Amino acid sequence: MNGDRTDAGTSLREMLKGRFLIGAALNDAQIAGQDPVALGIVRRHFSAISPENVLKWDAVHPEPDRYEFAAADQYVGLGEKHGLFVVGHVLVWHEQTPSWVFEGAGGGTLNADLLLARLREHVHTVVGRYRGRVHAWDVVNEAFEDDGSWRKTPWYTVLGEEYVSKAFEFAREADSGAQLCYNDYNLWKAPKYEAAIRLVTSLRQRGIGIDGIGEQGHWVLDGPSAEEVEAMIVELAKTGAQIIITELDLDPLPRPEELIGADISKRLARTPERDPYPDGLPEGLQQRLAQRYADLFRVFVKHPEVSRVTFWGVTDADTWLNHWPVPGRTNHPLLWDRQGRPKPAFHAVVEALRRASRDGA
Ligand code: XIL
Repeated sequence: MNGDRTDAGTSLREMLKGRFLIGAALNDAQIAGQDPVALGIVRRHFSAISPENVLKWDAVHPEPDRYEFAAADQYVGLGEKHGLFVVGHVLVWHEQTPSWVFEGAGGGTLNADLLLARLREHVHTVVGRYRGRVHAWDVVNEAFEDDGSWRKTPWYTVLGEEYVSKAFEFAREADSGAQLCYNDYNLWKAPKYEAAIRLVTSLRQRGIGIDGIGEQGHWVLDGPSAEEVEAMIVELAKTGAQIIITELDLDPLPRPEELIGADISKRLARTPERDPYPDGLPEGLQQRLAQRYADLFRVFVKHPEVSRVTFWGVTDADTWLNHWPVPGRTNHPLLWDRQGRPKPAFHAVVEALRRASRDGA
């Protein structure tokens, strides 16, 4: 029983009411109102939105004394207009951050006081502007390597571990009511979730509130398994933090092992072998993708600590995986195809949710 083949009458948001928020990330064109197909899907199926790029440091704060809030304002306004839970992504990251942030005054070397002052000013300005309107913030992105060690970013090199606690402190000062989250990829790898757990525990011990842990969820067809994802949820949930899948997509195209996750600094050149399905995903893979989405949603609904699941994109036409790790591919990782039609993966998720409700799970 696969349910009907259209999405008539179904709404992921309605089916997930009382369980968790279901979100989608919006790109610049969608935020600017130029993609009615995607916006129609968002209004019907989603209860939360994230901004793919418009709230990143390079977009919002390109020069020391210049903020550009026009697109971010539109994004927040869109969420308010449609009554959506509005996510802010991201305050502190080593990517998509202008080089001036990590340069000393007048071309000199950067010292800790100056970087800390920049961090404080940026977080206060951005979070303060949307106080009470952006409901959750990814405060820090990707502080750890897959082995659980600290990633040696300029933030870490100049400020040490403190940069994370300071970012959370400043965000809390700017909006005491927002949900504040730590976000990373590959948290299903034990050394990495252990690092996240240590971080949350140490912040809490010092009285710094952290509400959520986000696993990006940029996964591939073969892994992580639903069991690995469930183990991650169970372990992270022991901290008492909410668990959020912040950037879900399942990549069905070939991906070398060292690119599992989402290190956006790494790239591979496009070759025909790396772009095998420009005319559409073959039925067998379509079904595997569907099965895997269903397995994962069965896990998500089992755990009340999961408070939101957000897809990184709406349809396959706009997925960032058309551009990463191989630029110019035709990728197929989401629930809607390039024309905005629901895929077998959509129907499989709907069916999994129906069954979960029926079985009282
Ligand atoms: C991606 C965006 O989707 C792209 O448009 C952009 O070119 C690069 O960044 N992890 C994150 C997101 O936390 O911010 C990234 O978003 C994807 C990986």
